[in-house]
Amino acid sequence: MDVALSVRDLRAYYLTSHFGVEREVRAVDDITLSVEKKEIYGIAGESSCGKSTFIRTIAAAIRPPLRVLGGSIRYSFLDRDLYDLDERALTEMRWKHLSCILQGSMNVLNPVRRVRESFKDFASPHMGLARSVFFDAVKAHLNRLRLSPTVLSAFPHELSGGMRQRVAIALATVCRPEFIIADEPTTALDVVVQKDVLALILEMQREIGSSMIFVTHDLTVHANISNRLGIMYAGRLVEEGSTRDILRDPMHPYTRHLIASLPRIGDVTPKKGLSGAPPSLADPPSGCRFHPRCPLAMDICRQAHPELTALAPGRRVACYAVSPLVQPAHEAAAARKATKADKSAAFLQ
Ligand SMILES: Nc1ncnc2c1ncn2[C@@H]1O[C@H](COP(=O)(O)OP(=O)(O)OP(=O)(O)O)[C@@H](O)[C@H]1O
Ligand code: SF4
Ligand SMILES: [Mg+2]
Repeated sequence: MDVALSVRDLRAYYLTSHFGVEREVRAVDDITLSVEKKEIYGIAGESSCGKSTFIRTIAAAIRPPLRVLGGSIRYSFLDRDLYDLDERALTEMRWKHLSCILQGSMNVLNPVRRVRESFKDFASPHMGLARSVFFDAVKAHLNRLRLSPTVLSAFPHELSGGMRQRVAIALATVCRPEFIIADEPTTALDVVVQKDVLALILEMQREIGSSMIFVTHDLTVHANISNRLGIMYAGRLVEEGSTRDILRDPMHPYTRHLIASLPRIGDVTPKKGLSGAPPSLADPPSGCRFHPRCPLAMDICRQAHPELTALAPGRRVACYAVSPLVQPAHEAAAARKATKADKSAAFLQ
């Protein structure tokens, strides 16, 4: 596998203190995943499960009270861990190697400045072109995205939501980055515009050959765009596989619920909801975080968190009920440590 991004044992919590009461929101807990070159890795899960926190963490866009407490993040275009880069190296990396398309493009387009200024601020320093040549290149890029160069003279509020999102895609792709991170980029748009914007993202990703992490809670969008899917629940990754396999044959009880609740044309049978609500990440349940809502919960589920375990090529699941191969995470970690120690001993003999 030609890896573009490797995330290992990532932990990122919000650490707050109100009137002397310390609070820890465990939004990203022990996430390990890899993204291949040129693939689109989708992340799904219900609201507040930690998707955007994960995105902020891998984009090196963390601000207090969010803190990275452990783990590693390695991109193929960096010779070090992301968090070993200084501010200057991060600035050099952004837009050129790693760019973001977020929900509501106003996050990157300054509302009081014309669009051309955003291109000048973010893209120009990386392209090393004289001003007039730079804007010729930007106009050619806008043209490829079927956008009129007149958008450069507009203020963001003068453009429709769909048009602003297309401008944000143009800005995120003009430097042809190796990696693009997209967090709910089409969520605020109506269905017709959403389709158009998704097609544009796919077209750009294919043309540039970038790798992408694409976050949306909408599985129908993933069905159209993501090669693989990671399902998050309460700050953890609970299942991973090809989008096709996960949609056809979900294994984790939470994924099964997500897929069973998708609307289907002509199906008028009432959908059964899950009992209970997602847990507070400030005080998550012991063991498997899904146990208070899981119809299959057993004693062990309340006691120990299940390891996200490879059960078939390209398929990982964290659920005791799915396979006897799934062990408590602490036992799996101890077994890995012991195997490592055995290997080093054999090497020294
Ligand atoms: N600044 C903050 N301080 C404390 N907790 C926060 C902060 N921002 C987010 N959280 C908490 O972190 C958890 C994960 O939030 P996050 O925004 O990552 O979820 P999400 O999956 O992206 O949700 P959505 O689908 O609604 O965008 C939530 O419990 C949220 O309340
Ligand atoms: S580990 Fe237990 S509680 Fe968690 S999803 Fe599987 S059966 Fe349900
Ligand atoms: Mg979010």
